[in-house]
Amino acid sequence: HADIRVLGIETSCDETAAAVVESQPGRPPRICSNVVLSQIAEHAAFGGVVPEIAARAHVEGLDGVVEAALADADTRLSDVDAIAVTAGPGLIGGLLVGLMTAKALAAATKKPLIAINHLEGHALSARLMAPVAFPYLMLLVSGGHTQIVLVKGPGSYERWASTIDDALGEAFDKTAKLLGLPYPGGPNVERVAAGGDPGRFNLPRPLKGEARLDFSFSGLKTAVRQAASAIAPLTRQDIADIAASFQLAIVETLEDRVARSLARFRAIFADAAAPVLVVAGGVAANRAIRAALERLCRDHGFGFLAPPAELCTDNAAMIAWAGIERLRAGLLAQEDPMIQAPRSR
Ligand code: KG4
Ligand code: ZN
Repeated sequence: HADIRVLGIETSCDETAAAVVESQPGRPPRICSNVVLSQIAEHAAFGGVVPEIAARAHVEGLDGVVEAALADADTRLSDVDAIAVTAGPGLIGGLLVGLMTAKALAAATKKPLIAINHLEGHALSARLMAPVAFPYLMLLVSGGHTQIVLVKGPGSYERWASTIDDALGEAFDKTAKLLGLPYPGGPNVERVAAGGDPGRFNLPRPLKGEARLDFSFSGLKTAVRQAASAIAPLTRQDIADIAASFQLAIVETLEDRVARSLARFRAIFADAAAPVLVVAGGVAANRAIRAALERLCRDHGFGFLAPPAELCTDNAAMIAWAGIERLRAGLLAQEDPMIQAPRSR
């Protein structure tokens, strides 16, 4: 039958997630359920994700999260067509919990098991929202990744740019820590930046003007530390001003870096009628960054698509959807040696 319903499982970082996604030919896909159990509270005291704590929390939470995802979707396990699970990259303890659980569910129900690369999940998530045509560009900006990827189709990607040091979310988190703001840092930097003067500190725009497409953020973080220690102890206004100056530096850096990839896309796909940039990852929740990217795309004649926050941050709907895309493309075979998908029945 042509309807496909897939259970997705995601445990690569600090969210324990399961979801059911359904696809019928000629219809937009439907997210039947999307359950995310966040571990933020468990990691907050340490100012970042602690791998052992994450693995333990996945062990304790995953069964209930899978049950909730099936219940929310009004689906029995025997009704799903396949089980898709994040097989990497990520924290190995958490990945193993998800993989073993998915393998057990697949073995018990004789359903195909589909191993999904976490980045493929992010890359294809935009197509859950709108039928974006291949090829398109994706900017992935999260706590662990900062990349621009040419998305040619399921299983077919070209990485055009990545960070040569820190990820963008990491830069936000480290800046927050330096300013004494709580974890996770990104949303708190954005919040206090709203009351600050972005022109007070002249921070670097790393790699701006350079022909390569890559990103770098560690120099910016160092500059923030120097600016802060030069005027310590910091007042509330100092903190707001540094946060605002940092966010502006990020925005202007992204504008420069991303513009180069848009230009390259244009040069290669000169006859693309409606080129699109999609953005994914937790940092895509930042309104200043979103607005800047939207403007940039408009100026370059690109469409801009930013999925809603719950699909930008780590979730299992994107993993289930990537499984559906792979099934539809006939790509059941796995490149990941850790896991063997059953052959199609
Ligand atoms: O995708 P995500 O939820 O998890 C992974 O890292 O995979 O991204 C989390 C990152 C954190 O670094 C967090 O500080 C950042 O996204 N973030 C933000 C905002 N919301 C989350 N950064 C800047 N502004 C925000 N509003
Ligand atoms: Zn992610």
